[in-house]
Amino acid sequence: MDRGTCLWLLSSFCVWGASRGARETVLGTLGKATFLRIPPPFQELTARFGAAVWKRDTEDPHSKQVLLKYSDGNYINYMQEQTRFHQANFSLEILNTSRQDRQLYEYIVSKEREEKVWQIQLEVYEPVSAPRIQVLGGTEANDSLTVTLNCTAERGDRVSYSWAGASRLCARNGSVLHLSYSPRNASLACSCTCTAANPVSRRAVAFNASECGREPQGGAGLRTGHLVLVLVVPVVAAGALAAGCTALRAGECPPRPPGHGSPRWEQTGRGETEPPRQAPGP
Ligand SMILES: *[C@@H]1O[C@H](CO)[C@@H](O)[C@H](O)[C@H]1NC(C)=O
Ligand SMILES: *[C@@H]1O[C@H](CO)[C@@H](O)[C@H](O)[C@H]1NC(C)=O
Ligand SMILES: *[C@@H]1O[C@H](CO)[C@@H](O)[C@H](O)[C@H]1NC(C)=O
Ligand SMILES: *[C@@H]1O[C@H](CO)[C@@H](O)[C@H](O)[C@H]1NC(C)=O
Ligand SMILES: *[C@@H]1O[C@H](CO)[C@@H](O)[C@H](O)[C@H]1NC(C)=O
Ligand SMILES: *[C@@H]1O[C@H](CO)[C@@H](O)[C@H](O)[C@H]1NC(C)=O
Ligand SMILES: *[C@@H]1O[C@H](CO)[C@@H](O)[C@H](O)[C@H]1NC(C)=O
Repeated sequence: MDRGTCLWLLSSFCVWGASRGARETVLGTLGKATFLRIPPPFQELTARFGAAVWKRDTEDPHSKQVLLKYSDGNYINYMQEQTRFHQANFSLEILNTSRQDRQLYEYIVSKEREEKVWQIQLEVYEPVSAPRIQVLGGTEANDSLTVTLNCTAERGDRVSYSWAGASRLCARNGSVLHLSYSPRNASLACSCTCTAANPVSRRAVAFNASECGREPQGGAGLRTGHLVLVLVVPVVAAGALAAGCTALRAGECPPRPPGHGSPRWEQTGRGETEPPRQAPGP
């Protein structure tokens, strides 16, 4: 059971104990439908009392917006274009969630002098786009290679990044992965995968340099091939490009100690998408 479900259960059980402010947080995905659910005790109460209202706060602290009025099996939906009401469980479905929908919602059941309120705070997140991996720089010193990778997703709210892979060296939290390894493991970086995630979505992409995917690790000939690709080519390329690079792409060029090349890898990986996690609910 995840934390959301647990909180949901707890708050449902607390309904009768709390005098006011029984509250749930719902995570909505920008551009998708969002369900604002009513817990079973409130559903039963609605059936018993026969009247309920859906409201939400507005920017003005002195006014609330009435979204829907329910009375004995009939209802008026004041936001017919944007919402759908489900009489079976009194949930309100926001059809195309927008940033403006981020508000405190209230479901008020009333009868004569009695009133019970269920509150839902809606948070809206834009899902993350497929991340891209950029090589910030690399060096070769003594018997070790270093390479720095930066993973970024263009879109998405409150995105967090993490790295993982076959090697322990790939495991890291944050967008930047600094790798340092033996030239014998030249393709180690190829096993690293970056995941960009936020509470409503996650997408992963594997680092794929032009060197990746050619070889199973091992053979002496292949290893030499890697050394050539990873070390010699960059040295030559660095020399050839040095002037143009400093002039044209100064901002993108990593600082390079004299005599050392920077592996000039290009990310050509394809993103793999994992299904977004469900917002917490019953
Ligand atoms: C409420 O009812 C609607 C329509 O019957 C259904 O699509 C939806 O999944 C239900 N929601 C919950 C929380 O039971
Ligand atoms: C949802 O709203 C956005 C912005 O108003 C719009 O661009 C998009 O087409 C809408 N999507 C659907 C499925 O109606
Ligand atoms: C390379 O190795 C030498 C001797 O082992 C050491 O003194 C030097 O600091 C090393 N240089 C780097 C850049 O690690
Ligand atoms: C990584 O890339 C992002 C987006 O391009 C940039 O804002 C950030 O500064 C980069 N990080 C480093 C350490 O260069
Ligand atoms: C090469 O990588 C493998 C697996 O990632 C690891 O077990 C091994 O220790 C590495 N060798 C060197 C010399 O770094
Ligand atoms: C990344 O963060 C998660 C949660 O904070 C933690 O469990 C994990 O051990 C961290 N991983 C690394 C490689 O630091
Ligand atoms: C890595 O890129 C090469 C071409 O540059 C491609 O053939 C290969 O399928 C890619 N591998 C993955 C896992 O995307």
